[in-house]
Amino acid sequence: MKQILLFMAAMLFGGCTSDIEVKANVPANVGKTLVVYYSYTGNCREIVTTLTGQIEADVLEIEPAEKGLKYEANNYALGTELLNAIKANPNDAASYPAIDPVTVSFDDYENIIIVTPLWWSQMAAIMQTFLFQNASQMAGKHVGMIVSSHSSGISGVVADAKRLLPEVVWMADALWINASRHANRATLTGEWITTLNFAETQSTMEQKIHITIGGETRSVTLVANDAARALAEKLKQGPVTVTLNSSGGFEIWGALGFSLPTSDQQTTAQPGDVILYNGSNICLFYGSNSWSYTRLGKIDGLTESELRTFLKAGESGICVTMSLANATAIRSIKGDVGNGGICHSLAGAETKNPGQGIFVRNGRKIFF
Ligand SMILES: Cc1cc2nc3c(=O)[nH]c(=O)nc-3n(C[C@H](O)[C@H](O)[C@H](O)COP(=O)(O)O)c2cc1C
Repeated sequence: MKQILLFMAAMLFGGCTSDIEVKANVPANVGKTLVVYYSYTGNCREIVTTLTGQIEADVLEIEPAEKGLKYEANNYALGTELLNAIKANPNDAASYPAIDPVTVSFDDYENIIIVTPLWWSQMAAIMQTFLFQNASQMAGKHVGMIVSSHSSGISGVVADAKRLLPEVVWMADALWINASRHANRATLTGEWITTLNFAETQSTMEQKIHITIGGETRSVTLVANDAARALAEKLKQGPVTVTLNSSGGFEIWGALGFSLPTSDQQTTAQPGDVILYNGSNICLFYGSNSWSYTRLGKIDGLTESELRTFLKAGESGICVTMSLANATAIRSIKGDVGNGGICHSLAGAETKNPGQGIFVRNGRKIFF
């Protein structure tokens, strides 16, 4: 198992190749960042060393399972063969070259920066494998990409990234560092960082909802896609109660009674996943299933057997209430949008003259 390498401190205080100070340009409230890279001849590794001297990030290196291969031998025959296999069947996992297993807690990261070589005007096959395997976990993340090539332009790599990661939020245009600009990489990455639209730390109320079943309430962390945002928006009007039924030995599901925007893609749902199916059905998973789904979020902190109990696995007619976290008791909020409007305590009690503390007004958490 490859571990994520934490070398922020070392990079901050020594070995930094950056000749410009860019940390001040990264907003203080950005969420955690993961830099994922593959490097065959070392150029991407050098770019990552430079980059992590400029931003705080954890680093993950992707490595092929088969060591010692010469991708460039015989006029790049092996590199070409790997890319052609992907091109022939891009949706088949077997088309992608095996990589060493990696363990990433994607929930810990809001931002991911990919650093990859270009091979024959496409994304290096090894990095494609990582993205193919982890696309559903990267859904909703803010993602940026740096591409290293000898001289070829990177539009093909950008197309590969968009195909492999249809549900991410791109932070900025990809940065291209070719051989003639490699020595100048510190300036290039430094300038690029200032254009990135980093996700903020996940601390706002809209990113969490509650699910209540049989009097027990659990929090759900929403992903950052249009469907999840639309669901949170809907719940601002008040809790929504649906009746779900067990199905397939892996989920409870049923009609929402309204539609949400879809970005369906082949997804292997895992225990705890909250998923939109066919645009207007919600599925809560206590097992696993692969289908074309849109992710909404994940139930926080329950084991598979705890999920089975909480979700009443195997039963029918299960009454499930969804509400915005911290505002479960508020059915509707009257008042002007903006600074005016009636305040509610976090328990839902109307509060005309709030003192010090946290209150809810017009669906938003406010502090007095
Ligand atoms: C199989 C293979 C194919 C490549 N194809 C191209 C190419 O089409 N155009 C180009 O400019 N560079 C090409 N390169 C060069 C790499 O993109 C470039 O050297 C890059 O900086 C390598 O990054 P790395 O050192 O991190 O592996 C290729 C390299 C390999 C190994």
